[in-house]
This record gives sequence, C-alpha cells and structure tokens, in this order.
Amino acid sequence: MSVTPIRLFGDPVLHRPAAPVVDFDKELRQLVADLTDTMHAAGGAGLAAPQIGVGLRVFTWDVDGEVGHLVNPDVTPIGEETEDGPEGCLSIPDLRYDCRRHLYVAATGWNMHGEPVRVEGSHLLARAVQHETDHLDGVLFVDRLDPAAREAALAEIKAAEWAGMGAWMPRVEVSPH
Ligand code: NI
Repeated sequence: MSVTPIRLFGDPVLHRPAAPVVDFDKELRQLVADLTDTMHAAGGAGLAAPQIGVGLRVFTWDVDGEVGHLVNPDVTPIGEETEDGPEGCLSIPDLRYDCRRHLYVAATGWNMHGEPVRVEGSHLLARAVQHETDHLDGVLFVDRLDPAAREAALAEIKAAEWAGMGAWMPRVEVSPH
C-alpha cells in the first residue's frame, strides 16, 4: 500500500502537459499501484499521475466499482451528446461545479504491461475519462467552465481552507478487525 500526497490546485505540475510513457517497466507498475491506492484512500473516482507529482500520461479510475488504468490515452467522443453535471477534483477538495462533458467516449491506450486497451464509457465513466485525460494536458475542470463561473470558482479556490497547503495526504481507513 503506497498512499501518496495529492497535489493541490496551483502546483505547477497540475498546470503543464505530462509526457508520454516510454518504458513499460517496474516503475510504471509501481506508479499505477500508487495511483490506485491513493485514489481509493481519497475516495476519488479517478486520479492522474500529475496529481501525485509525476508528469507522465497515466491515470486510474474507479467508477461504479470498476477499477482501471490507462497509459498514454487517446480519447474520442462517440456522438454529439453532452451533459452538464456536477464535477469535483481531488486537487480541488470540497468544491464541486457543473461541467459540460461528452456523454459517450472511447479511449484507447495501453495497460501497465504495454498491451493495447480500449475502453468505452458513458455518463460517470465517460466524465472521469475526460476529466483525467484533461489532467494529462495540464487542464483542470475549472478551466472548462464559462468565464463567469470560472472566475467565481477561482475566488472560492483562493479562499479555500486548503489554499497554499501545496498537497494533502489522504487518510487510509484502517479496519478495526
Ligand atoms: Ni481531477
């Protein structure tokens, strides 16, 4: 179990594009394990490598009990349908804003063993895949809000209790048994 601190809004690693993974090695498998453990400890639906300070194109998700990861993802919307829905981010704790996303997407990429993977998702899974892929491009979901909503969100972020902390450590729930 390796739970890692989660970088908060404002950390430069969250605001620049991540690099493609070249080596599908032991370090990559450790990164996927760290992301998965940290995501679960934080109770998140997804986590991208830059959020734990690693500038590589890798993310994990846990949506409706389905846990997965993608390396070097390429995401394509399926159809034109979009949906406005509440969204949050472990790098922007406690705050949620409605964000417009494609309702259906297909994502291709690789697993940690270098095997090709294709994931199709709708609704929450599609939203998570789009949100996490944005992280790999240095884009946070508040960047996608319309200008007035974004300005209001940035003011709330600036005033948040965690502002200026740099990172936070998810608490691992320890079973009493
Ligand atoms: Ni996020």
